[in-house]
Amino acid sequence: MSWKLGRRPAGDRSDGPAGPGRGSVPRRLHLPAFRPPKGRLRRRLSAAARLVAALAIVGGLYTMFAPGVTQAEDTPPLSSTAEQGKRLYETTCVICHGRNAQGVEGRGPSLIGAGSAAVEFQVGTGRMPMARQEAQADRKPPHYTWDQARQIGAYIQEIGGGPQLPEGDRLRDTSDGAISRGGELFRINCSACHAFGLGGGALSSGKYAPALDNSTDRMIYAAMLTGPQNMPVFGDNQLTPDEKRAIIGYIQTLNEDKDPGGFGLSRLGPVPEALVIFLVGMVALVFATLWIAGKS
Ligand code: HEC
Ligand code: HEC
Repeated sequence: MSWKLGRRPAGDRSDGPAGPGRGSVPRRLHLPAFRPPKGRLRRRLSAAARLVAALAIVGGLYTMFAPGVTQAEDTPPLSSTAEQGKRLYETTCVICHGRNAQGVEGRGPSLIGAGSAAVEFQVGTGRMPMARQEAQADRKPPHYTWDQARQIGAYIQEIGGGPQLPEGDRLRDTSDGAISRGGELFRINCSACHAFGLGGGALSSGKYAPALDNSTDRMIYAAMLTGPQNMPVFGDNQLTPDEKRAIIGYIQTLNEDKDPGGFGLSRLGPVPEALVIFLVGMVALVFATLWIAGKS
């Protein structure tokens, strides 16, 4: 008989008189089996309540002790110069460069990271605001004064960062050593496009490197820092600030003493100068030879 019971499933109701007695055991066993979920639920609920309370306390403390931090992250306050610049930006530049200077598809590039140097250069030389789409935004009489260009530059700098001109106005070095060093650096880095005599020259597809006879110190410094259009960027790793000042010293000295050697040949550079000397000299020699031959 015992083997028979052992083989039967525990809850088998067709077990005769022994059935109810054994059937009650599994029922009692079921009851404790239901209780643990209730305990677990309670434990989970109280854990959740504690978590919510802890989060509320941490959140409250954070806003109490760090209101400045959250504010600074959301809207960095602009300096008063940048506020003025923002107003100018929103009247003329926003159509092409977008509300937060993020650029407008098909109209103008993003200015995030362009820096105040690029803005000073573009606005101070009259290239911006651009009148119409063309191969190269030309230099033209500026729409804004250089001070206004600096204000717009401060705004773009504060929202997006980027290269900046150094403080102060000492941007040229005209000591003797600096001028010759500047000349050397100019011939290596700049003359390929701007010509030895600063006259500028044509580049490919309708673009050109302008003459440098009308550029202020800030313009030249900003051009080197930002590399407008096809001009390469000369960051402080390529040309140190002192080297930049020497180059500016050289350019402005060349601009100031107009051709000390006499007739400048439109400053076409040493090769055309040599060619002219050669041609003039050869013609003179030929005539001299003919004259001598005719006499004898
Ligand atoms: C009609 C559209 C237009 C307007 C208006 C305009 N820009 Fe631009 N801007 C352009 C385009 C297109 C370029 C890119 C071509 C180029 O560099 O010549 C550009 C380039 C620039 C750059 C050079 C970006 C770089 O990465 O070097 C700066 C800086 C700039 N603009 C600033 C301004 C400011 C400041 C104003 C307002 C005073 C302004 N622009 C108004 C169209 C415009
Ligand atoms: C690959 C050719 C190239 C080289 C090299 C180059 N530039 Fe330029 N540069 C240009 C072009 C192109 C422009 C005109 C950009 C524009 O209109 O947006 C320019 C513009 C300038 C301007 C602005 C002139 C104005 O009237 O507004 C200055 C200043 C300048 N360059 C200085 C330099 C100096 C200094 C060097 C050497 C350290 C140099 N450039 C090297 C191509 C060059």
